[in-house]
Amino acid sequence: MKTIVKKVTDVEKDKEAIAEAGKILKAGGLVAFPTETVYGLGADGLNAEAAAKIYAAKGRPSDNPLIIHIADFEDLAVIVKSVPEAAKALAKAFWPGPLTMILDKADCVPYGTTGGLETVAVRMPENEIAAAVIAAGGGFVAAPSANTSGKPSPTNARRVLEDMADKIEMIIDGGEVSIGLESTIVDLTVAVPQILRPGAITKGMLKEVLGEVHDGGKPTQDSAGPKAPGMKYKHYAPRGQLVIVKGEPEAVAKKINELALEKQENGFQVGVMATAESAHLYTGEKVRIIGTRKNDASIAKGLYESLRSFDDMGIEYIYSEAFEEKGMGKAIMNRLVKAAGQQIINLTKEDN
Ligand code: TXA
Ligand code: MG
Repeated sequence: MKTIVKKVTDVEKDKEAIAEAGKILKAGGLVAFPTETVYGLGADGLNAEAAAKIYAAKGRPSDNPLIIHIADFEDLAVIVKSVPEAAKALAKAFWPGPLTMILDKADCVPYGTTGGLETVAVRMPENEIAAAVIAAGGGFVAAPSANTSGKPSPTNARRVLEDMADKIEMIIDGGEVSIGLESTIVDLTVAVPQILRPGAITKGMLKEVLGEVHDGGKPTQDSAGPKAPGMKYKHYAPRGQLVIVKGEPEAVAKKINELALEKQENGFQVGVMATAESAHLYTGEKVRIIGTRKNDASIAKGLYESLRSFDDMGIEYIYSEAFEEKGMGKAIMNRLVKAAGQQIINLTKEDN
């Protein structure tokens, strides 16, 4: 199948492309589209056969459930058993936006979408193009990140095409996403709401609305717990071996320079993920600035593209600085640690 790529800058001006995407979705096909977090790979979420195509295109294990995306809050009630007060309050505060809620599923949601679970993940994205595609596609669009399973999520259409060319009907190119990391997932089916995946909606923000919220503790453990099946797989990983070095900037740079030199002497291609503040401390290697420490959002936005660009350069060993696990930093470290397969060198005194 030849994948059509259509640029969309304005949902009104480009309404033909949106209508075409809607037609494909309604017919059971696959369309990738931008959201504010990452690009999604969409299919009709109420059609088990369509959802099955997502698993095939991504090479995704079939027990890993999909998020259903809606464009209208009223549609939530169609796909869940009941809408609890907590869900209403969260929707009022954060929808449309980068928050996914886990609720008990209604009968109309096929097990093919939920990976056999009795619960369903639901999100209402803020991105206007996403909202238009979802509405055009019938209102219930199952969409995981539009990457090959295990790879870093795509934050632009070029990366979607890299993974999905000839596997899906259409890609809507809406430019670079604004956030760059996947939505926060909160489970509302348990007594105390629990964060299954950290994201741009932080624990502090959820607490303000819900009062009590649990999370899985340190992202260095599997913060997903047993309930988010997708989080147990190797994720977000570049082909090169990623190692995180944690500590004071000068000490980190010294260590990374040593490690990099050793690998280079053995003939390996080495890359370093640095920040605007620290890039000057590195010698010799291919240094990529992912963002500035003055602004966590810039790092979140640059992370996946940086990992993929090291792959483009054939880098075999990647060394990265660590980030403070506060606010958005929690989501950044959660993804980085998974991408590194838990490989962290800790130079800080208090953690040793
Ligand atoms: O920002 C996002 O959430 C992006 C964009 C496209 O919306 N989507 C995304 O989907 O990240 P995906 O499939 O890559 O990640 C969904 C995660 C997986 O870890 C999955 O296991 C978990 O959500 N999940 C889905 N349904 C669930 C359920 N019923 N119970 C527990 N976890 C669930
Ligand atoms: Mg994903």
